[in-house]
Amino acid sequence: MKQQLEAIREKAENKLKELADTQELEQLRVEILGKKGELTSILKQMGKLSAEERPVIGQLANEIRSYIESKIDEKKSELEQAQLLKRLEDEKIDVTLPGKEFSLGNRHPLETVIDEIKEIFVGMGFEIVEGPEVESDYYNFEALNIPKDHPARDTQDTFYITDNILLRTQTSPVQVRVMEKQKPPIRILSPGRVYRSDALDATHSPLFHQIEGLVVDKGITFADLKGTLETFVKRLYGEDSVVRFRPHHFPFTEPSAEVDVQCFGCHGKGCRLCKNEGWIEILGCGMVHPKVLENCGIDPEEYSGFALGLGLERVAMRRYGVDDIRLFYENDVRFLKQFK
Ligand code: DAH
Repeated sequence: MKQQLEAIREKAENKLKELADTQELEQLRVEILGKKGELTSILKQMGKLSAEERPVIGQLANEIRSYIESKIDEKKSELEQAQLLKRLEDEKIDVTLPGKEFSLGNRHPLETVIDEIKEIFVGMGFEIVEGPEVESDYYNFEALNIPKDHPARDTQDTFYITDNILLRTQTSPVQVRVMEKQKPPIRILSPGRVYRSDALDATHSPLFHQIEGLVVDKGITFADLKGTLETFVKRLYGEDSVVRFRPHHFPFTEPSAEVDVQCFGCHGKGCRLCKNEGWIEILGCGMVHPKVLENCGIDPEEYSGFALGLGLERVAMRRYGVDDIRLFYENDVRFLKQFK
């Protein structure tokens, strides 16, 4: 029995040397020390021994058991250490490698200009509202004093969906929608997309943006319109900008005007930016036509108002020196990234 025990010790020692992983080690442990293991089965035969032999063999068996156990533990931590090192090696991070660049988007220049204009008007007490892009003929034309046979319809090449439904050609229908629902005082600003079936070129696009403004209250005069627009232009283009009002005609305002700012490239002398005119047209405006007020159920004897409509792309193109409107819609990141 003593020899058997020594043989087990020897076997364990040899096997431990060859072992390559913790799984094999566990197998060995079960094989020798487990309930049905070799050492255990020898111990079970102890009963056959004489009273003198039993303690001697018992002691030896215990010695060998704890010897093998400690060897297994030793080997186990050795293997675990090796595994850890291997993992660390495999997962090594080279902190000197250049990192992956996360490309962050940035605001679209049109969005930036819209926000800036909104902020200026909100500062003057205006409220931002939006209207639908698919409109009815009534809101886009009829209610704005542009009847079916009106020549102004020819100047706005309309995308019709049906005889009565169209893509709005201007943001002015929002005026009507607001006045129908809300009683004065009204002070709103409405930015949004508009559509005209223009051929696409450097200065025309079938989709572009306008910003509509409307003020209705008791005693609103052309002086309020002038004061509001002068403040707006100075905030947008700087305190030293000069504004000019030119008489014009719009069916939904009377009187109507177009507003120019003195060219900031040449201060009125004439340059490429202003096509030698010294002035740059930025918006249309006027006093809301009594008929339009009436169409919306507002008594023109009691109330008056002014309105304005601004082409956003024009403002943005000048602001950023962009000479082709198409760049705004192509969403080429090489273009857009310049506005970071
Ligand atoms: N809706 C006009 C256009 O598209 C712009 C405009 C001019 C709007 C005068 C107005 C205004 O509100 O008063 O050309």
